[in-house]
Amino acid sequence: MKESGNSRKMDFERPSALFRLEDRLKAVLGERFLYRPFYEKNGGFRGDERVLDFGCGGGVGTRCISSLLTHGGSVTGVDVSSFMLERARKRLREHANAAVLHGDIRALDLGTDAFDVISEVHVLHDIDSNERASYVEALALILRPEGRIWVLEPTRQSHGMPVEEIRALMSRAGLEEVLHEANGKEYRGVFRRKGETT
Ligand SMILES: C[S@@+](CC[C@H](N)C(=O)[O-])C[C@H]1O[C@@H](n2cnc3c(N)ncnc32)[C@H](O)[C@@H]1O
Repeated sequence: MKESGNSRKMDFERPSALFRLEDRLKAVLGERFLYRPFYEKNGGFRGDERVLDFGCGGGVGTRCISSLLTHGGSVTGVDVSSFMLERARKRLREHANAAVLHGDIRALDLGTDAFDVISEVHVLHDIDSNERASYVEALALILRPEGRIWVLEPTRQSHGMPVEEIRALMSRAGLEEVLHEANGKEYRGVFRRKGETT
């Protein structure tokens, strides 16, 4: 299996001006052009799900999920960056069904079978390649039976990770791909527990 080194390592406690600008642009355009289309392609939400936004960053995706959970659902964003979570908290102030947590998903006590949907957008490639497997295993543990993990990752050699690595990590954690789309720059996929038929 090819593994990526992801040459553009980011410091999310002190993000560059360019990254901060990108986050502000996402806040204006992201819901319409990135998050909603991604969620809809994956099957969308009924509205009552418990959702984890892993690596929620500035919370733009979390905010979009929150507004789509119209039937009692809730969303929890988790991130390791206090800087990004500060932005997320501000953006989610008016969203009673959304909360954010700071910390390492492998150590946070989120229970088992806790989430119907786990969304991860542009996160896994930013984690050290030798730690990715333990993160994916932690995500698989907190996914409910019949739950889904929604993945969106860049796949360029200069910035991203190979599609085969994503599939191999998921497979090792007992997950299989049920939907995917890849275009050489980006991979989008949906995973469920192996052997489930729904
Ligand atoms: C490129 S940003 C994407 C943020 C968000 N998902 C979005 O759609 O804008 C990557 C985020 O992943 C977070 N991150 C990196 N490593 C992480 C880890 N081990 N656990 C949780 N979050 C992590 C970073 O702090 C950062 O906020």
